[in-house]
Amino acid sequence: MSLTPDIVRGKAVYEGCAVCHMPEGWGTPNGAYPQIAGQHRSVVIKQLADIRANNRDNPSMYPFAIPEEIGGAQSVADVALYIESLEMTTATGKGEGNDLEYGERLFREHCTECHGEQGEGSQAEAYPLIQGQHYNYLLRQLVWIQNGKRRNANRDMMERIGEFGIRDLKALSDYLSRIKPNANKRSPYTWKDRTKKKR
Ligand code: HEC
Ligand code: HEC
Repeated sequence: MSLTPDIVRGKAVYEGCAVCHMPEGWGTPNGAYPQIAGQHRSVVIKQLADIRANNRDNPSMYPFAIPEEIGGAQSVADVALYIESLEMTTATGKGEGNDLEYGERLFREHCTECHGEQGEGSQAEAYPLIQGQHYNYLLRQLVWIQNGKRRNANRDMMERIGEFGIRDLKALSDYLSRIKPNANKRSPYTWKDRTKKKR
């Protein structure tokens, strides 16, 4: 976190990540790969550090994220800045759309104090941006945070969702997958015309 990141070097490091997270950082709408574009630098650094230390299981990504593959702390700082600078897609994978009011109510009651009014998170506190993420990824994380499979989870958050049932987790994920990020974080391109943009 204390290093000075270099976005050009970060872009070069990112080439190894693009196979799964896509060149735009949009992941895949089926949620197999999360959208990481626009995520706070502090959050990307923490997740990479946890994955590298086997504190968050990610067997498919692990070999692509270790120091032998991408280098040490400087590379992590560089790629994190590059990822944060990428614009997000709003064409995310979504849920069934039949329980959104309930999802919003749960979100307002239980989540905004850390993740913000729009799920924008916080760079300073390393609270993840969770707006406009793919539905299946969100649901998977909520289930894994609740049952402890995601070992690096936040304790207070685990307590908060401890009693939630599957309807609650689905409604939250669906609501979050539809929140549009601020205009300055949003990509003007669609999945179809994204290749036209200059890289
Ligand atoms: C082989 C595919 C693959 C590659 C290559 C890959 N990742 Fe991932 N990454 C994943 C998967 C799958 C997940 C989600 C795992 C889960 O569901 O918990 C993930 C999750 C993440 C997350 C956490 C997202 C979040 O919202 O918490 C970050 C950050 C991330 N990857 C960054 C990177 C970076 C940086 C690179 C390149 C150095 C990279 N990934 C390369 C597959 C990959
Ligand atoms: C006390 C603060 C706090 C509260 C309240 C909280 N969270 Fe979190 N949440 C966190 C932190 C911190 C992380 C990241 C932990 C880590 O490093 O893995 C996180 C991670 C997540 C993730 C994973 C993000 C990703 O990109 O992988 C999701 C999804 C999430 N929270 C949703 C929610 C929802 C929905 C609620 C309300 C029901 C909620 N959180 C309440 C602090 C909180």
